Amino acid sequence: FPLTFSHLSYSLLQAEGSGFYKLDVLKHVKEVDVETPWGSPSSKVMILELPSGAQIAFIARHGISHSITPSEVNGQANIAALKHLGVKAIVAFSAVGSLREEIKPGDFIIPNQVIDRTKSIRQHTYFGPGQGLVAHAMFGEPFTPELSSFIAPLVKQVLPTGLNLHTNTGDRDSTLVCMEGPQFSTRAESRMYRQLGADIINMSVLPEAKLAKEAELAYSLICTSTDYDAWRIDEEPVTVAEVIKTLTTNAENSKFVAQNVLQHLHDAIAANEIPSQDGSMQYSIVTSKD
Ligand code: ADE
Repeated sequence: FPLTFSHLSYSLLQAEGSGFYKLDVLKHVKEVDVETPWGSPSSKVMILELPSGAQIAFIARHGISHSITPSEVNGQANIAALKHLGVKAIVAFSAVGSLREEIKPGDFIIPNQVIDRTKSIRQHTYFGPGQGLVAHAMFGEPFTPELSSFIAPLVKQVLPTGLNLHTNTGDRDSTLVCMEGPQFSTRAESRMYRQLGADIINMSVLPEAKLAKEAELAYSLICTSTDYDAWRIDEEPVTVAEVIKTLTTNAENSKFVAQNVLQHLHDAIAANEIPSQDGSMQYSIVTSKD
């Protein structure tokens, strides 16, 4: 099961706790049961067809019935399954809490930075203990800038009136803090994240983004804001009821966003407009061959 195996040229979308578990705006072609050396992905890989006839792969990150907690998601298997199918780029979706007044529930965000507040219970690397291979992937840019800037205008194009897209501008980063959960943050933590410069919070981008980097895949994240987390003194902290309420509307918007993005992305990958990540790990392996 070589991680570098690739025989198809799918562009791909991975879904997740964004509230959409099927991409039913696209034609369903088949479901593929992929077993990897790291175990099974969160769901069968759904192969879907764009109006152009191009195919994409889709995984429901928390399972079809949302039964897999953020801590339990098998990122290694999810990323390996997609790599195995020939995926070149991952556009992942995520529901997030907002740490900024101007990021309102329903708004979309494409972050360019991450702060890791997960615990060491997640499998963060393919180069773990016992492999006999030490590698240090570059992670200064946790997302693929060319992919993020390609998808941003396509997201904007289909956003309903009144909703905004937030991205990094100039030297102002758009920063996502990824926490372990499953409980939401305390008010003190929520305020600390604001002081650290974080804009949004979720439980799911890591280790996925790290594993995509190690697997030499382009990876970007489209976030939808569901709540104001716990930092506002004049409001109740976030509840699941609040998240679910916004999530339903966000999921519908996300499907149209995904449809628009994917239609254009497949052509861009075929035309090499999104730089291939193949070979990006070549200077990361420290262990010598002999
Ligand atoms: N996902 C959606 N809202 C969240 C929040 N407030 N904290 C962490 N993850 C979230």
